[in-house]
Amino acid sequence: MKHKWDERYASNEYVYGIHPNLFFKDKIENLKPGKILFPAEGEGRNAVFAATLGWEVSAFDYSHQAYKKALQLSTINRVSIDYSVCNIEESDYEKESFDAIALIYMHTTNRQVNHRHLLQFLKPGGVVILEAFSKEQIKYKTGGPKEVSKLFSIAELENDFVEMKELSIWQETVVLNEGDLHFGEAAILRLFGKK
Ligand SMILES: C[S@@+](CC[C@H](N)C(=O)[O-])C[C@H]1O[C@@H](n2cnc3c(N)ncnc32)[C@H](O)[C@@H]1O
Repeated sequence: MKHKWDERYASNEYVYGIHPNLFFKDKIENLKPGKILFPAEGEGRNAVFAATLGWEVSAFDYSHQAYKKALQLSTINRVSIDYSVCNIEESDYEKESFDAIALIYMHTTNRQVNHRHLLQFLKPGGVVILEAFSKEQIKYKTGGPKEVSKLFSIAELENDFVEMKELSIWQETVVLNEGDLHFGEAAILRLFGKK
């Protein structure tokens, strides 16, 4: 799998573009900057945007090629981000140290384990911003995993984030325009929650 992502990120193009995900942008622009974590952040479009707003950014991905592209994007934007190459399950940050965690299209085989592992790094009162494909995305050919088990349902996310004090999760049909791999009408879930 890691190999697949290194291959995808090998070209000079930014696969999902250099601009942040629109839902993430809308949410982060309305929060007071603090410390934010970006698991599975790929080529850095969201992390770099947060850094330009004054957030102290930590990010990681298991693709080394993603790391290289993200650092290149941060240099172009003259911001600094702390970016590591690691697997979600091995990620290790100080407990309850982040004001926000952004989970943008993080589709893995260990969804619940991964979400709960990452929540330990969020401060009480910290927020989660998540966008991902819903199970209905299987009907569309506009991006995301081809296995239903890797697509999300509202019930699964409610269960993963059951410890959150405030939680809103909803489904939307949107027209994605985030590079060739996220392009066209798509069924997505959006989550915003406070721990
Ligand atoms: C669809 S891309 C999204 C990238 C980024 N969040 C964005 O929105 O531009 C999914 C990313 O998850 C990473 N990834 C998948 N499973 C992972 C894991 N177990 N540990 C770390 N990264 C992982 C991939 O390398 C890839 O960069």
